Amino acid sequence: MAGKNFAWWQSGVIYQIYPRSFQDSNGDGVGDLPGILTRLDYLVALGVDAIWISPVMPSPMADFGYDVADYTGIDPVFGTLADFDRLVAAAHERGLYVILDYVPNHSSDRHPWFLESRASRSNPKRDWYIWCDPAPDGGPPNNWLSEFGGPAWTLDAVTGQYWYHAYLPEQPDLNWRNPQVRDAMLAVLRFWLDRGVDGFRVDAIHHLFEDGRLRDNPPNPDWKPGMSPARRVIRAHTMDQPEVQEAVAAMRRVADAYPGKRLLIGEAYLPIDRLMAYYGPGLSGFQLPFNFHLLSTPWEAGAIAALVARYEAALPPGAWPNWVLGNHDRSRLASRLGPAQARVAAMLLMTLRGTPTIYQGEEIGMTDVPIPPGRVQDPWERRVPGLGLGRDPVRTPMQWEAGAGAGFTTAAEPWLPLAEDWTSLNVAAQERDASSMLSLYRALLTLRRAEPALSAGAYGSVVVGAPDVLAYDRWDEATGRRLRIALNLGDGPQMLAGFAPGARVLLSSHLDERSGPIQGAMRLRPAEGVVLELPAGA
Ligand code: GLC
Repeated sequence: MAGKNFAWWQSGVIYQIYPRSFQDSNGDGVGDLPGILTRLDYLVALGVDAIWISPVMPSPMADFGYDVADYTGIDPVFGTLADFDRLVAAAHERGLYVILDYVPNHSSDRHPWFLESRASRSNPKRDWYIWCDPAPDGGPPNNWLSEFGGPAWTLDAVTGQYWYHAYLPEQPDLNWRNPQVRDAMLAVLRFWLDRGVDGFRVDAIHHLFEDGRLRDNPPNPDWKPGMSPARRVIRAHTMDQPEVQEAVAAMRRVADAYPGKRLLIGEAYLPIDRLMAYYGPGLSGFQLPFNFHLLSTPWEAGAIAALVARYEAALPPGAWPNWVLGNHDRSRLASRLGPAQARVAAMLLMTLRGTPTIYQGEEIGMTDVPIPPGRVQDPWERRVPGLGLGRDPVRTPMQWEAGAGAGFTTAAEPWLPLAEDWTSLNVAAQERDASSMLSLYRALLTLRRAEPALSAGAYGSVVVGAPDVLAYDRWDEATGRRLRIALNLGDGPQMLAGFAPGARVLLSSHLDERSGPIQGAMRLRPAEGVVLELPAGA
């Protein structure tokens, strides 16, 4: 493990569980909390340190849990609060930290707060949400658009006003300018912290506030057909508003009042300079504002090296980096890059400086699963079909074994179809295969745990002069131990030269016999990544 000055969330690795698709324990075709409990030993063997569980609170599931109808309960489809307590205790017994999803921007339209709010214009909770009179023509108050297609305003026929929703109409935005909302939502954090959770992944934080004057968003000159319709406008007045920083700091103060270095991760898809603001003045904000930039950077050595340099240089003093290569909203690695480069990507994620987050199923190289029209679940795909925006393909059930239901469920049909390849691509098969993707993840996580240079050390880019090769050093300041990572992002072989005597291979992403001393130069095979040990003083 890393030096004693590092918090668990700095040296550790986070694993995202999408609970509907991780493990079903009661045969209803949907994963649940008791199911997760039965797989904790798998996660320990994999070598991760923390699990982040996507929302499990009571929800009508319009957006599969991201529409919360009760912030302090557990949806029956996932189990009970007692199941949750058992899961936290079992995770902690195994040394695993538990991070919950917290959805502050919006509730479900079935949340009692919203039911009250929409009951009448004079209801005491009216101002808990964002209401506005129609435009003079009776239409929506302004041109703001929903992320999931259509206007961001829906008319309530009874009270004659529109409510604002950054996402679905079923996800009305809470009004964080109202101190009662803020207090109620901060109390939600305390409820779960009191139950022992180690932190939160805070959903859609860049949407928390909108312009108080409700000014129109400017048109986006770069929008083209085929892009998300929500991108027709630039979200100048609906995203990343200044007030959000104080709200984040308030969340952080709540977390910091608890012992044990509780963690706040912020979900904000923002340019690097804007993202940095979410660390907060004097690091009073999120410990980890999610860094999604690898998701949108071309898979080219030069582009990635430039991104890492830009991100590292932008970090405020003392801020800890983090990297993400996949989640429940984005295309899977093996589909984006192909199975060979997905292995290189795994090595990149596990060896960059900063906390990595692994999305469930990436460790076995799952791919995006085509969803037949009749099986579509994601409201985004239903509202904006055919543009490839739907997220069902990356949310299909975890492939545990070759048997019926893939070991995920005993139901005849899981809620989303299984990938066709589940009988060959699954955890059980990969556990038996010493060169599988799962074996690679385990080897990388073992190495990362053993090497403070990787989990906590410094980072420096290295120019090796071989096209397609991304290379960097990681070193432990305390001991001087230095590792070099060289990743061949191309499909031809590459030569690496100039090694001092004593350099040796610790791990190749091909997981074959290649280890041991390097004689001056080494040949990287196509799509091969290596972790090398450099001699002291090199
Ligand atoms: C976040 C979640 C996504 C959800 C949205 C609305 O982006 O990751 O899954 O649909 O917020 O809550």
